[in-house]
Amino acid sequence: MKSNTFDIEMIRKFYESYPQKVDEAKKILKRPLTLSEKILYAHLSTDEPLRNYVRATDYVNFSPDRVAMQDATAQMALLQLMNSGRTKVAVPSTVHCDHLIQAHKSAKEDLNTAEVTNKEVYDFLSTVSNKFGIGFWKPGAGIIHQVVLENYAFPGGMMIGTDSHTPNAGGLGMIAIGVGGADAVDVMAGMPWELKMPKLIGVKLTGKLSGWASPKDVILKLAGILTVKGGTNAIIEYFGDGTSSLSATGKATICNMGAEVGATTSIFPYDKKSSDYLKATERTDVSELADKVIEYLQPDTETVNNPKEYFDQVIEIDLSTLEPYVNGPFTPDAAHPISEFAKVVREKGYPQKMEVGLIGSCTNSSYEDLSRAVSIVKDAKQKHVEVKAQFIINPGSEQVRYTAERDGILPAFEEVGATIMANACGPCIGQWKRESKDPERANSIVTSFNRNFAKRNDGNPNTHAFVTSPEIVAALSIAGDLCFNPMTDTLVNSEGEKVKLEEPKGYELPPLGYELKESGFLAPIADGSDIEISIAKDSQRLQELAPFAAWDGKDIIEQPLLIKVKGKCTTDHISMAGPWLRFRGHLDNISDNMLIGAVNAFNDMTNAVLDQETNEYIPVPKLARKFKAEGLGSVVVAEENYGEGSSREHAAMEPRFLNVKAILVKSFARIHETNLKKQGMLALTFVDKNDYEKIKEDDKISIIGLSEFKPGKNLTVELIHKNGTKESFEVAHTYNEVQIAWFKAGSALNYMKQK
Ligand code: F3S
Repeated sequence: MKSNTFDIEMIRKFYESYPQKVDEAKKILKRPLTLSEKILYAHLSTDEPLRNYVRATDYVNFSPDRVAMQDATAQMALLQLMNSGRTKVAVPSTVHCDHLIQAHKSAKEDLNTAEVTNKEVYDFLSTVSNKFGIGFWKPGAGIIHQVVLENYAFPGGMMIGTDSHTPNAGGLGMIAIGVGGADAVDVMAGMPWELKMPKLIGVKLTGKLSGWASPKDVILKLAGILTVKGGTNAIIEYFGDGTSSLSATGKATICNMGAEVGATTSIFPYDKKSSDYLKATERTDVSELADKVIEYLQPDTETVNNPKEYFDQVIEIDLSTLEPYVNGPFTPDAAHPISEFAKVVREKGYPQKMEVGLIGSCTNSSYEDLSRAVSIVKDAKQKHVEVKAQFIINPGSEQVRYTAERDGILPAFEEVGATIMANACGPCIGQWKRESKDPERANSIVTSFNRNFAKRNDGNPNTHAFVTSPEIVAALSIAGDLCFNPMTDTLVNSEGEKVKLEEPKGYELPPLGYELKESGFLAPIADGSDIEISIAKDSQRLQELAPFAAWDGKDIIEQPLLIKVKGKCTTDHISMAGPWLRFRGHLDNISDNMLIGAVNAFNDMTNAVLDQETNEYIPVPKLARKFKAEGLGSVVVAEENYGEGSSREHAAMEPRFLNVKAILVKSFARIHETNLKKQGMLALTFVDKNDYEKIKEDDKISIIGLSEFKPGKNLTVELIHKNGTKESFEVAHTYNEVQIAWFKAGSALNYMKQK
């Protein structure tokens, strides 16, 4: 048992009361329950009455079992926790140092560099973790979601994590939800955590995967069906015979990428494969506890026999006929079955030469992924076919890395010229020092990652990034050609012969078991009261937070427009990652990236908004700072699904810090809308989406009705155009009573302290 890395007592207690809680919920709801409902209702906060909550309508308080944070988002979460008045976290929590390691030369060199360049951040995170009783995973220990799956995820549990791909743990039957740092602070501080009761999308899997198809293809296909917005406010619950044929890590891959369709989370039922994985990762005790309550870790039979009655939407995927998918570029829902991909590449004129293949990320870096991908590489080598593209591998955890090294997997990748980078996010989050002689040229890369927004991997807008399975990354890297279909096409080897690659083969779990020498985990000391938190006075990367001002009790009157955003505006556009990651703990400094990736609807340019005083186009943060210095606020206007993508709360804190008063959009992505509310911002939506067109570049904007700010009651926006004409329209919001109290107090944290 891994007694140093997870709290078996907490899990034991959970399983003791779990069946009873589920039975009570069934009695009250008077119907069978899906798996998601069982877990949700078993985690109602003690202040919530047990009743039938209306999906997509009712806000519900929950009590998650644990919290996980990665090093980029943990900084701001822990800076906020320091302001909460607590001395110790209320639930088991961990910090994982995975985002700040830049991939450049090799694992060892890059890790050494990261330890020097990020020293002050690691020192801060380790000291604050030790002080507040938080487990600390050192740089190089692995990617948060792989480490959580290997150590902490348990069937029937509920966790939140300050990273969008927290749902990865759904592969082991846990409800795991990506949140902003402010939500993590709530849970670590022992407060209930609020979520709108999600809708349920049931995905029935039938048949069995074969050949080149992999678990990744399930979610790549589903992304094409649902699109990046299709899972918003919903849990995707997988059921059907097909689920039991997938490995636990394969299920985690599918759950992980549910974030790309905007799903709140995704989940699979507990089964033999889950139990095998728990045992392989030294958690036989957890699997024994779960086995005893197995019927509570699966959906009630009636719900899956008659899914249309119990789910809001039902989709069926036959694994037996599923073919590999390649999705992209620039959006993960541009889904192309590999049989049609070459045609798309040629028709759309995507660069056909495949320049770099990258395997890794929290999505696809398990032992199974690496073992299947390497089988293709070995086959190619045996057939004298050279690897044409550059090849980069980031193992998911030290446990996977050590085991894959021991079993000859990593050496086999290296033999064909692959570079093994650190067990970290690296290129997945733009932490990639890609060397390129001609960055201006359009180029293609293929990754086993989850996201492929422009500039995400190497910061280069000319890079066309496609996401696919590790197996297909390997095949396309060998071919160096986007149009290669390993299922039908041949390659020419060094002897001039035409050869076909064998279908991938691998192991779900290492035949000789997992192994590692040093996990990289530091347990906190029992009493951290004497620990001093390390923040240098002149630090450019860390800054203690000053509370935001409370609402002044007035309407927002005649504030200028900061930017009217056109098209997609993800949290990457609002608060870009890459080089900005270094300022994650310094609100003032990082605010210089605010909305610099968003397209201005009036000139189609990024980071160029009109300064009406000088009539010049200047950077967005510069104009916001100018307004702030003059004591003015401002308003941001945007289109659909504003704030989709990563859960980063900086995208909400920066506008708040730079005095933006309201974000008015056609629709919000869930996590970001909540993040805005937590920071005391006004998050508003057009009642009539056509009103977006009414907003002019030089408008003054008023928001009226705040003295009667109530749940379900619309507010009014009044525009004063430059020529003096006025027009007004209604705007909607989704604030409940507590969220309105956050707004009035200036932030959720201010409200927490007041209470
Ligand atoms: Fe890291 Fe990329 Fe996952 S940034 S946590 S590997 S989505």
